[in-house]
Amino acid sequence: MRLTLHVWRQKSAKAPGRMVQYDARSVNPDMSFLEMLDVVNEELTLKGDDPIAFDSDCREGICGMCGFMINGVAHGPRRGTTVCQLHMRKFKDGDVLYLEPWRARAFPVIKDLAVDRGAFDRIIAAGGFISVPAGSAPDGNVILVPKQNAEIAMDAAACIGCGACVAACPNASASLFTGAKITHLGVLPQGQPERDDRALRMVAQAAAESFGSCTNIGECEAVCPKEIRLEVIARMNRDFIKSSWTSRGASAGSGSGG
Ligand code: SF4
Ligand code: FES
Repeated sequence: MRLTLHVWRQKSAKAPGRMVQYDARSVNPDMSFLEMLDVVNEELTLKGDDPIAFDSDCREGICGMCGFMINGVAHGPRRGTTVCQLHMRKFKDGDVLYLEPWRARAFPVIKDLAVDRGAFDRIIAAGGFISVPAGSAPDGNVILVPKQNAEIAMDAAACIGCGACVAACPNASASLFTGAKITHLGVLPQGQPERDDRALRMVAQAAAESFGSCTNIGECEAVCPKEIRLEVIARMNRDFIKSSWTSRGASAGSGSGG
């Protein structure tokens, strides 16, 4: 297979970027998309050119490091698939592909197709954890979890933090990601003591990071490689509204008591 690639090249966050055309020859249909880029990069390196920068780590669809736009679609044309698990047999000989980084104010470009997703780390640091002692492994087995809740938690925990949901959203909202993390912990018994605070702090941090608000467009769900459902956003909103009212009630109560 032979492909024409138009790749966004940008030396740093502050430098101007532009699309550059490359010829990808001898593409094996069994290569992953990232392996195809590895070959292009080898040729660029041999010529003394700067290789195309992109993120990857596990290349098994589990770490969340990879991801960029292929012809305007986050992670490319195959549903429920990270770009590291996308294979070249999905494309045809002669295809022309446009590769661009995630575009969102909260994800500044580091170089070429690699962006800084530190904003996600700060949302997690704001509340995406359990700080009460959860006991040892045998204790985990004696805390009964309803099967339905275990499944909701497991589905939400599948989020790998890749950022495709933000890139696909016209509002650059992080609601699918934040909702997945809030849901994952909020339906488990160990997550209850901090549930209210967690929703307040994580939603506030997402807003502080310049992510937009959710307007129920659903592009996030369509591109999510882990097929996280929009329901997690409803759960996040419910926890957030409930905790907002609880904290307002508490401050009104302390005000009248003082
Ligand atoms: S919700 Fe889906 S698209 Fe968004 S960060 Fe998690 S895995 Fe990626
Ligand atoms: S490199 Fe780990 S999910 Fe793609």
